[in-house]
Amino acid sequence: MGNIILTGDRPTGKLHLGHYVGSLRNRLKLQEEGNYDEMYIMIADSQALTDNFDNPKKIQDNLHEVILDYLSVGLNPEKVTFFIQSKVNALTTLTYYYMNLVSVSRLERNPTIKTEIKQRGFEQSVPAGFLSYPVSQAADITGFNANVIPVGEDQLPLLEQTNEIVRSFNRIYGDTLRECNAYLEKNDIAKRLPGIDGNAKMSKSLGNCIYLSDTSEDVYKKVMSMYTDPNHIKIEDPGKVEENMVFTYLDVFATDEQIKKYSEFNSLDEMKEKYKRGGLGDVKIKKVLFQVIEDLLEPIREKRKYYEEHLDEVDKILKEGTMKAISTANKTLDRVKKAIGIDYFE
Ligand code: TRP
Repeated sequence: MGNIILTGDRPTGKLHLGHYVGSLRNRLKLQEEGNYDEMYIMIADSQALTDNFDNPKKIQDNLHEVILDYLSVGLNPEKVTFFIQSKVNALTTLTYYYMNLVSVSRLERNPTIKTEIKQRGFEQSVPAGFLSYPVSQAADITGFNANVIPVGEDQLPLLEQTNEIVRSFNRIYGDTLRECNAYLEKNDIAKRLPGIDGNAKMSKSLGNCIYLSDTSEDVYKKVMSMYTDPNHIKIEDPGKVEENMVFTYLDVFATDEQIKKYSEFNSLDEMKEKYKRGGLGDVKIKKVLFQVIEDLLEPIREKRKYYEEHLDEVDKILKEGTMKAISTANKTLDRVKKAIGIDYFE
């Protein structure tokens, strides 16, 4: 069997530059390389409910934002199957059988779950659904026979849990499921893009994001407010490029061609040297970064505009993708039931 790629996002907010460099760019690369039989991208609305069960409206509203974000960055419905998790009933059934193969204490030891329980204030009483979402994620992955999973490092414990379930299942019921591997972003800054305020993570709750759907005016304002070097007060002062968000972002987003085009320098290194010596102002470097981000976002905005004007097309993409996902996952469920020996009347 060839490569089957699967990944997904919880629809809890619009996607931002952190998502772009941390995961969307990687997905585009996989799509363009084309070294796969199938590529699935799932909108994980059921998983999003495990910690937002009291706010389903948030998930509903963001489901559309997320599919528009996918399509506008250039993920191509002819090469990728997009689907909605909650529509694929077989995934829920698989989850139920996999639950037997995992102990509660194993789930409680999962480092990702541990961190998330703290972040969500679930220490006193963890919803069973939340504690067991790693089992449902194993169903997402194995339901499609996926072996290549493009995700962030925070997801590694979830893939490990998936592979443990796969091994237990195969040991008890015979060789049925296949193990998966993470496909990780290699660039260290891109892995976790800091916020425009210099905070270690770009995140909606911290209010330090540049969204893929931001207008030029939004981006300009945000770039002008970016955290640089608080001791670089006068233009002549020597400045620091480390922990300076403008340079951090230029490192991730800018090519030397762009630096040449938008500044008097020939390369980013040359620009950094000048900043360090003194004599290069923050407004100037911010204007360069603004142009670089605009180069990235402008085509994304254009595609988004197209799809916003053709929402029926977006619905069709999601519906057709979801139908295909239902059919594939049903086949896996049949194989699983047969392996367990509960394929009565067949
Ligand atoms: N847990 C992932 C996230 O929070 C979303 C997700 C759900 C997922 N199921 C998946 C990712 C299966 C990869 C594979 O981003």
